[in-house]
Amino acid sequence: MAKLKKVYFCTDCGYETPKWLGKCPACGAWNTITEHTVAKESSSPARVVSVPRAEVCKVQDIAENQTRRIDTGNKEANRVLGGGIVPGSLILLGGEPGIGKSTLSLQLALTANNLSTLYVSGEESAEQIKMRAKRLGINNMECTVYTETLLENIISEIEALHPDMVIIDSIQTMSTDLVESSAGSVTQIRECTAALLKVAKMLGISIFIIGHITKEGTIAGPKILEHIVDVVLQFEGDSNNNYRILRGIKNRFGATYEIGVFEMRDTGLKEVDNPSEILLSHYDEPLAGISVGAVVDGLRPYLIEVQALVSGAAYGTPQRSSMGFDQRRLNMLLAVLEKRIGMKMFQKDVFLNFAGGFKISDTGIDLAVVSAIISSYYDRPLLEGVCCAGEIGLSGEVRPAPRTEQRIAEAARLGFKRIVVSSFIQKKVKAPKGIEVVYISSIDQLPKAVL
Ligand code: TYD
Ligand code: MG
Repeated sequence: MAKLKKVYFCTDCGYETPKWLGKCPACGAWNTITEHTVAKESSSPARVVSVPRAEVCKVQDIAENQTRRIDTGNKEANRVLGGGIVPGSLILLGGEPGIGKSTLSLQLALTANNLSTLYVSGEESAEQIKMRAKRLGINNMECTVYTETLLENIISEIEALHPDMVIIDSIQTMSTDLVESSAGSVTQIRECTAALLKVAKMLGISIFIIGHITKEGTIAGPKILEHIVDVVLQFEGDSNNNYRILRGIKNRFGATYEIGVFEMRDTGLKEVDNPSEILLSHYDEPLAGISVGAVVDGLRPYLIEVQALVSGAAYGTPQRSSMGFDQRRLNMLLAVLEKRIGMKMFQKDVFLNFAGGFKISDTGIDLAVVSAIISSYYDRPLLEGVCCAGEIGLSGEVRPAPRTEQRIAEAARLGFKRIVVSSFIQKKVKAPKGIEVVYISSIDQLPKAVL
């Protein structure tokens, strides 16, 4: 057993301090510092693999062999990873319980053709994994399954098998003998991840680590690992809905602006090439309160249906409820409507949501949100085949949304006839065939453009 010492960690951000504090100096949270016992030499797990000495060299002399990427056999995952997995990288896949992390990673382990993969599970039995694999209907002869939680055993198995890719499901269930605390504690998570990082670098094996984040973010976990690992991916979505987004939060080997879209089916996660097609509904008759916004998430433009309901407030204080959209921003947009167009929003309840349970933080959705509200307020459907892309400022001015050109192109591709954008856009866009681009500078021109 290694020598032990007492340290204090913040359970929110992982800040380490030698003495107890009431408030974490790093993240400012109160009562989050807890006591832990750790091994004195935190590098001790590296005993398993010997570390050769590094050499100093000039930057121009470094050979560029970093660009090799392993195809995961999954288009959406490749896209988010920046083209595939870099050998020897440590990847953290975070997400709420039940969102589909195990499904996605097992699918990757099974679809990665010509790759030998090791799926380590501390949460499910081998039979359960077999059942899931059967459900996914994929067969990879080179996928091995290991149900184990002791890190020392896992590392020796990795050394023996030397697979191309390892999946650790999940880091919260793993433990090492080097520290005394129970699995899932900050110390265990940190030590296990540090050891896995060394294994990945020394043996050139890519390792996926799955980490749970709770809704409250209280369990110490993925947050404190973000600076240790090379890549951080987040799997998001509403578990009541079928759509999932895989998002790059950090990537030492590429950009983080790509997203991957999946649909959860009874046969696993299906890649969604064309998000717009699933996020737009087709109605026989035009309905009031529905608009379409052209948004960009990362680099990816897609169109999404916005639904609003404006009704007379039954009680003194009007209700405002928004799903997937910042409530404060909704309040701001309503105030702008009240002031600039004279709509009596203070007497109205307003409800807002997006198709597919999507969350949208792109402010380019503002125009579409306001269009849906206007449409419901006047109880008049919007013009057929109209969509919007633009941000609204406090004085009612319509600001250009980033990548407006791409949004227009996506709208045209999907057969929209008219798109309303900001007239402050730097260079006027050459409209693709079949779509009319309407430029407006202020919110009071919006009703005329869409109704
Ligand atoms: P899971 O991967 O176990 O989530 P996590 O590892 O993130 O906790 O998957 C959770 C849900 O996915 C589960 O409620 C069932 C559903 N599911 C499907 O809908 N289709 C499938 O083919 C599979 C394997 C799971
Ligand atoms: Mg799981």
